[in-house]
Amino acid sequence: MSYTPHEYLKKVLLSPVYDVAVHSDLVRLNKLSSQLENDIFLKREDQQPVKSFKLRGAYNKLSGLTQAQLDAGVVAASAGNHAQGVAYSAKRKGINATIVMPDTTPDIKVDAVRSFGGAHVNVVLHGSNFDQANEEAIRLATDEGMTLIPPFDDEDVIVGQGTIGRELLEQNPHLDTLFIAVGGGGLAAGVAYYLKQLKPELTIIAVESEDSACLQAALEAGHPVTLPSVGIFADGVAVKRMGEHTFALCQQYIDDVITVNSDEICAAIKDIFDDTRVIAEPAGALSVAGIRKYVAQHDTQGRVMGGILCGANINFHTLRYVSERCELGEQKEAVFSVTIPEKKGAFKAFCQALGGRVITEFNYRFSRDENAQIFVGIKLREGLQEFQVLHEQLHGLGYQPIDLTNNEMAKLHVRYMVGGRPPHQLRERIYRFEFPEHPGALMKFLNTLGEHWNITLFHYRNHGAAEGLVLAGFEVDAEQELSLLTHLDELGYVYLDETANPAYQSFLSHPA
Ligand SMILES: Cc1ncc(COP(=O)(O)O)c(C=O)c1O
Repeated sequence: MSYTPHEYLKKVLLSPVYDVAVHSDLVRLNKLSSQLENDIFLKREDQQPVKSFKLRGAYNKLSGLTQAQLDAGVVAASAGNHAQGVAYSAKRKGINATIVMPDTTPDIKVDAVRSFGGAHVNVVLHGSNFDQANEEAIRLATDEGMTLIPPFDDEDVIVGQGTIGRELLEQNPHLDTLFIAVGGGGLAAGVAYYLKQLKPELTIIAVESEDSACLQAALEAGHPVTLPSVGIFADGVAVKRMGEHTFALCQQYIDDVITVNSDEICAAIKDIFDDTRVIAEPAGALSVAGIRKYVAQHDTQGRVMGGILCGANINFHTLRYVSERCELGEQKEAVFSVTIPEKKGAFKAFCQALGGRVITEFNYRFSRDENAQIFVGIKLREGLQEFQVLHEQLHGLGYQPIDLTNNEMAKLHVRYMVGGRPPHQLRERIYRFEFPEHPGALMKFLNTLGEHWNITLFHYRNHGAAEGLVLAGFEVDAEQELSLLTHLDELGYVYLDETANPAYQSFLSHPA
């Protein structure tokens, strides 16, 4: 960075970002604060017109260009928040912007950029990944005389992001620890450079996604390095290589780096939602994930901590994954597999062995006459140590649970694939049940039905909805069927006979 600390402070203080950006709120996360026993504040960058902080850097950069440069237009490569920041800023400045996006970019993102930029923005779809789009943007800049607006590694972009530091200090001068998400490092560099001049005793922790930890890799190597690949769940920070300027500043001003995994990010999205009703995008929730992890690792209490909700541009359908994973990230759910005898009542006996704990998931399909392999999820009230206790209890009762809580393949795929066709013809009836979800509802089900018939198929997942849904199969012959129906009626749950359902016939029944 060529700006001296004095020049940098001046640049931040005089930055014109407020032509387009708002002073975002700094809100206290009351629930999380009492849960973690620290005072936790969150800077709401989702309040920016483009729903992320990226507008600040882009607009500040544009504001420093000469009239001739503005007249020639600007170009940027991005499929994400930077593209929206540049598009919005270009429109406000009344200049032309070309945004190069990989041609694999979902329409929803292309449309968002077009709607922010209007007639001022020309979207060019080029190449199949970010690197190829970036090369095209560089070519356009060179050949057509446009100014390239980099997403992070640029002094004036860094200044723009630094304005968040200024607001933070004004809004809460008592902050003692600040957590900042890192992609290419523009946000962290900008905020840290500003704050460390004015409050050097403030601890600044960078938070990276485990699968795109390019700052951590650069710090270990002593210079930016290119990661061979990056995970894209937290797409806002999926950057393979830190910038040169951003690295130099982070190396000097960041006190520590913490990495978090996808489950921990999902848990942080839920933490933010629980306190604010705002849905952060994965990168936007990184700092809160970092706070949770830091507090657990350092056992800190009574500190005044800050995080930045740096973006809220999430694809709605991603929420299904987020909700699936957040309990695991909070260490409130364990999943495991266990073998039980294939006989009447064994299922119920196993549920009893769980000692009244809430079952979040139960997947099972008949495969052999002697033993049944079950995929189970349970809610943990006291974190993972409770799982240890349960593990020992189950061992004591002769079960041998295999812990799958950290097994990605199990959580992403196998849980949905448990089952298939039985090895031989079964006299089975398949029913789909709906019942009011409450603790003990599943046990009621098993108490009424589980001892009378051999259960040959079971699929249950607690989604936190008011209705519990179960698909179950029972081994019954024609004579027993009437008595099964009587029991089903006694249960009082809504049910539907699905034995003739073609989905069952095609995938789950034994081929005749
Ligand atoms: C929501 C969000 N968070 C964090 C970042 C990371 O910012 P930086 O690349 O400046 O580290 C980005 C970058 O686009 C982002 O969109």
